[in-house]
Amino acid sequence: MVVEVSGLIETLRLRNLERYRRVELDFSGGLNLIKGRNSTGKTTLLNALTFALFGEVPEAKPRLLVSKLPGSGEMSVYVRFRSPVSGQIVEVERRGSLDRKGDYRTEGRLLRVDGKNISLESEEDLRSKITELLGMSLRKFLNLVYIRQGRLTEILEPQRDHMDSVMGITLLRELREQLDEARRELERFNGKDVATEIQNLEERVPELDSSLKQIDEDVSRLNKEVQELENLLKKAESMELSELLNYIKKREHAEEELKKVNSRIQELLENAGASSIEELETKISLGEKELETLKTTRNNLKKELDASMEKWLSMKSNVSNIEKQIREHESLTRSGVSKCPTCGQDLQPSIIQKLLEEDRGSLARFKLEEAEAKKGYDLKSSEFQNIVERINVAESECSRMKTLGNRLREYLNSAEAFMKTRDSTLVAIKEKLAVLGLPFTPEDPELKLKLAQQLPLQPDELTRKRSELAEKKGSLERKTSIRMETSKKLEDYRRLLNELKRRMEKAGLAHRLSQSFDQAVETRRRELIKRIEFRALEYYRAMTDQHVYDAIIINPEDYSVSVHPKGLTDPIPATRVGGGHQTILALAIRLALLNALSLNSLLILDEPTYGVDSENLPQVASYIGEASKQLSQMMLVTHYNICEEEASNIIEVSVQEDGSSKAEIKT
Ligand SMILES: Nc1ncnc2c1ncn2[C@@H]1O[C@H](COP(=O)(O)OP(=O)(O)OP(=O)(O)O)[C@@H](O)[C@H]1O
Ligand SMILES: [Mg+2]
Repeated sequence: MVVEVSGLIETLRLRNLERYRRVELDFSGGLNLIKGRNSTGKTTLLNALTFALFGEVPEAKPRLLVSKLPGSGEMSVYVRFRSPVSGQIVEVERRGSLDRKGDYRTEGRLLRVDGKNISLESEEDLRSKITELLGMSLRKFLNLVYIRQGRLTEILEPQRDHMDSVMGITLLRELREQLDEARRELERFNGKDVATEIQNLEERVPELDSSLKQIDEDVSRLNKEVQELENLLKKAESMELSELLNYIKKREHAEEELKKVNSRIQELLENAGASSIEELETKISLGEKELETLKTTRNNLKKELDASMEKWLSMKSNVSNIEKQIREHESLTRSGVSKCPTCGQDLQPSIIQKLLEEDRGSLARFKLEEAEAKKGYDLKSSEFQNIVERINVAESECSRMKTLGNRLREYLNSAEAFMKTRDSTLVAIKEKLAVLGLPFTPEDPELKLKLAQQLPLQPDELTRKRSELAEKKGSLERKTSIRMETSKKLEDYRRLLNELKRRMEKAGLAHRLSQSFDQAVETRRRELIKRIEFRALEYYRAMTDQHVYDAIIINPEDYSVSVHPKGLTDPIPATRVGGGHQTILALAIRLALLNALSLNSLLILDEPTYGVDSENLPQVASYIGEASKQLSQMMLVTHYNICEEEASNIIEVSVQEDGSSKAEIKT
């Protein structure tokens, strides 16, 4: 019974592949039977199909596929299939050859979808596109669809990861693992454990917070202190105040100088024997007048002195004249001269004697007179001398007085200047006091002291306070920058803490998701297993009349199959039953698997009846024929004459005389 339905694989073409020089085969829907004797090239066709689709064949390197038939050139495979996913017509072609070293080198690849060439970046790109269009990966293809020669019963004791992958668990598990990975990533931050970090931060944040508060307190205290100090210093250093102090200093200086000058004035007055400059001046003018009088007296005296001197001198000359006359007369007498040598008069000794006597009388008188004149002169002279001395005294006194007067005037002038200064500073002090609102009088001698009491700071304190202010400002600056750092740190910590908490929430979510994912996956897996167990038992019963097992059990842990033979207390592994039954069980499970996974587009079986006894063979074969009807397409390789009736397409494979294989559709 041939049913013409369109299958998945439509055409396979190959050149120079293993034993084939050239093959072109069209496949039909339903059962495609590939027949032929051993080693003719049946399996080769399936390998060619696998290679065409995925670019590789299990357990055979591409270089081994290149035909070693004499005269073979470039190997090529081409397959056309209808995508069970999109319904599009997909064409794949691969070409390659051996290089000098004997390695396979791809010469070209081609993918056409609905007649349109698709650009390909690489082998991986082509493979991923085929996987998408075919709805399955190479792994799934090999585990589910293409049951290779001698591997049918592997399903009875399969590899767990293969089965997981076949059942779609791998993908789900991969997703779960990605979720777990995401969770693990979320639970780590900068190489640290997030939970520990959160714990650390939750300790650090309040610590930092309280230290920030402490810093804030310090800062505001320092601010206040700086403010106070600044105010204090401002007051202490105020212009008005310092000007006032300057005026007071000036006033004090003026007063001091005035005091000195006054005492000098006093001294001078005392020296001058006067009580005032006016008195001194009177004294000077009196002195001058007196001097004047003295000088007049002196001048008069001088005249008198000169007169008396003249008189004395004339007296003196009288005396000396008489004495001379006497000496002459005496000499005349002694020499006996009778005539006067001078007047020529005849001299008589008596006359001379008389003359001598007269002369001597005159001389005595003259001498008396001269003595008298000298006395008078001496008297005048001493009088004169006296008056000269008095003049000298009066003159020096007068000049002393004048000098004193000059100096006194000078002192009085400077006293006046100092008084002026004092008075003007007093006015200024008064003004400043008024400006500053201080209740003192400018004349107050204790003003400075009182002001000092009013002053916020004493001058020596001022310097100390200034350096204190500078110090405080410095520490305020430092504290402020510490504050900024701390608050930034705190902010960072808080942000980080929030972020970490969010991370942990996400991690928790990922964890919960992963757990429920796991549960869902596990539930689905067990459901699938149950369905497969149930269907497999059904198929098994349909394939043989030897209903020796009443249960097929798939171990959910490792997918190993057990059967429960009737009459036995416990199940036994399916690998322990007879070979023929193993084949039947494997077929039943594989079909049940495809059914459970709703994969009904293609099944390729290479010699699936190995070990089946001749009595069971027709039933198995007929069941395979039946099963093929449940699928869009089945390819069955066999060297038994089975299923020919059910086949919609029979391909005969044989070896020709030149040693090459030939595959042709039996018409
Ligand atoms: N590179 C190659 N060049 C030429 N022939 C090759 C090459 N590789 C393998 N062969 C031959 O191809 C044939 C492989 O045949 P294949 O395995 O397809 O046989 P078969 O028909 O499946 O046989 P069986 O029924 O025994 O499984 C063998 O004869 C082998 O010698
Ligand atoms: Mg074979």
